[in-house]
Amino acid sequence: MIRAALSIFALVSLSFAAPSAPGWRFDLKKETSGIVALEAIVVSPTLVVFFDRASDDPLQVNNHSAGGALWNLETSTVRPLNVLTNSFCASGALLSNGTMASVGGDPNIFPTNPEIGAGNQAIRLFQPCDSPTGDGCDIIENPATLHLLEKRWYPSSVRIFDGSLLIVGGMHEDTPFYNTDPALSFEFFPPKEDTPRPSEFLKRSLPANLFPRIFALPDGKIFMVANNQSIIYDIEAQTERILPDIPNNVRVTNPIDGSAILLPLSPPDFVPEVLVCGGTQTDTIDPLLLTSQTPATSQCSRIRLDEEGIAKGWEVEHMLEGRIMPELVHLPNGQVLIANGGRTGFAAIASVSDPIGNSNADHAVLVPSLYTPTAPLGQRISNAGLPSSGIARVYHSSITLTPQGNFLIAGSNPNNHTVVGPGVKFPSEFRVQTLDPPFMFVERPKILSMPKKLAFNKSFTVPISVPSSLARPGANVQISLMDLGFSSHAFHSSARLVFMNGKISQDGKSLTFTTPPNGRVYPPGPATIFLTIDDVTSEGAWVMMGSGNSPPTLE
Ligand SMILES: *[C@@H]1O[C@H](CO)[C@@H](O)[C@H](O)[C@H]1NC(C)=O
Ligand SMILES: *[C@@H]1O[C@H](CO)[C@@H](O)[C@H](O)[C@H]1NC(C)=O
Ligand SMILES: *[C@@H]1O[C@H](CO)[C@@H](O)[C@H](O)[C@H]1NC(C)=O
Ligand SMILES: *[C@@H]1O[C@H](CO)[C@@H](O)[C@H](O)[C@H]1NC(C)=O
Ligand SMILES: *[C@@H]1O[C@H](CO)[C@@H](O)[C@H](O)[C@H]1NC(C)=O
Repeated sequence: MIRAALSIFALVSLSFAAPSAPGWRFDLKKETSGIVALEAIVVSPTLVVFFDRASDDPLQVNNHSAGGALWNLETSTVRPLNVLTNSFCASGALLSNGTMASVGGDPNIFPTNPEIGAGNQAIRLFQPCDSPTGDGCDIIENPATLHLLEKRWYPSSVRIFDGSLLIVGGMHEDTPFYNTDPALSFEFFPPKEDTPRPSEFLKRSLPANLFPRIFALPDGKIFMVANNQSIIYDIEAQTERILPDIPNNVRVTNPIDGSAILLPLSPPDFVPEVLVCGGTQTDTIDPLLLTSQTPATSQCSRIRLDEEGIAKGWEVEHMLEGRIMPELVHLPNGQVLIANGGRTGFAAIASVSDPIGNSNADHAVLVPSLYTPTAPLGQRISNAGLPSSGIARVYHSSITLTPQGNFLIAGSNPNNHTVVGPGVKFPSEFRVQTLDPPFMFVERPKILSMPKKLAFNKSFTVPISVPSSLARPGANVQISLMDLGFSSHAFHSSARLVFMNGKISQDGKSLTFTTPPNGRVYPPGPATIFLTIDDVTSEGAWVMMGSGNSPPTLE
């Protein structure tokens, strides 16, 4: 009798608890992206720049299809950008002065959109924009005077310790499926030399080495992984140190896209660890021997980049499913969102023996997972409580953390031009969603004000408010300094989370924190600061980390 009574009580309390306990939600926006948002970068607290190929998108600028668009995070509306060069499969980042630079792209002119020129040597700028709605702000280009040293389609880039961009690899013109026309070099923007630096690593990692996954380490060196090879590149000494291969014949760069992320860096030592997930275990890259049904790998490989960690090599763990083209994105609390991609097939368009429409990939994964870096091996990945997006996001999709603390998700187009339903399994996808974490539906801590500019290695005190639900002694307080990255081809260039030491005052009204020691730990440039208390994250505060000066230029 007592047992029965108890279980009825448990049921009753459950049915009361369920509706009020907030979970993760996908939220479909009314307005569409107008272009296929295959690249995305947050450029201000309210604005995201999207890029697509110069094709036949519905969103028009000057009476032709726009190559770029500005998404307003406050109103969920879009307006076209006037992109002059084809930004298809480009990379980019924010520079130390807050300017966004998009680099490289597609050499081809789209027959029905000849207004947009070749983009493989392009540099496109979006200057810091103070208007919350982006009024008067547009892409600035001058292909004749401002361009890369080498042609690069499918390059990667990362902001480095002096606030400039290191630009890595890519191909020159056109190749079928994999890299047969490689740009085997590095260069900088602004340039540091008159000629690109040759790279043995890029040679060794052929032919599946497009969009290398690269990270600026806290000592200023650069970690790179392409195909199944990895190195640490010393920009100053111009040397490379070869690290162990990704285990088990798993390859992780385009057209065999896995993804990679630099795990959160924590004081006092900021020991870097890299996580690489997805891709495919394969010996061949001959598209005729590959199919849209070839299983992607569930393998994640993780390495700690100090001497002891390098000696130990890669530690292997597994996602809940295989994923080609997964996205790995930081949450401000240090977890990593694993989203999007497919369970089988490859990146690129209509090249395997049996594409689905034009898609080399199939079996879109609709339910994201969370990776908890601090959990024990084997217990780090879960999709408990995560909903289905209902929308396939395969090749040419993007996702980014926003300053509001949720994720903006758009794009997908494994087609050479705009292809829409009915009966098309993988159409050109214009629908935009956010993925909203549970903390979006409860009272959140607030950062009430923040200096616009923060110097390195300094302590700051700012006013905050903490809801009573979170005001408890011993609460877990995290202060994260983040670069939200440039999302392109299942990789978030320059994405970074540096935890800062700090504490909340006794009265709960102010937060004191210490910025990273120098520009190697956080390359100088824009950053978003979030305050998280017991996994409830504030909206981010947009700051300039460092002087805000332009990166050095070649004399
Ligand atoms: C766009 O086309 C319309 C109709 O052909 C024309 O009236 C208008 O001036 C054009 N606008 C631009 C910016 O070229
Ligand atoms: C990496 O790829 C190369 C070239 O295909 C192969 O010889 C090597 O065995 C692979 N390494 C591992 C650890 O699988
Ligand atoms: C798509 O374009 C590529 C080159 O840009 C070409 O090789 C391929 O045949 C095209 N595929 C389709 C389905 O049109
Ligand atoms: C940071 O500041 C502390 C004193 O507050 C000083 O001891 C330390 O050397 C500084 N570190 C750097 C990298 O400048
Ligand atoms: C930032 O630096 C870049 C590279 O030198 C330059 O092109 C751009 O105009 C600068 N932006 C501002 C706002 O000074």
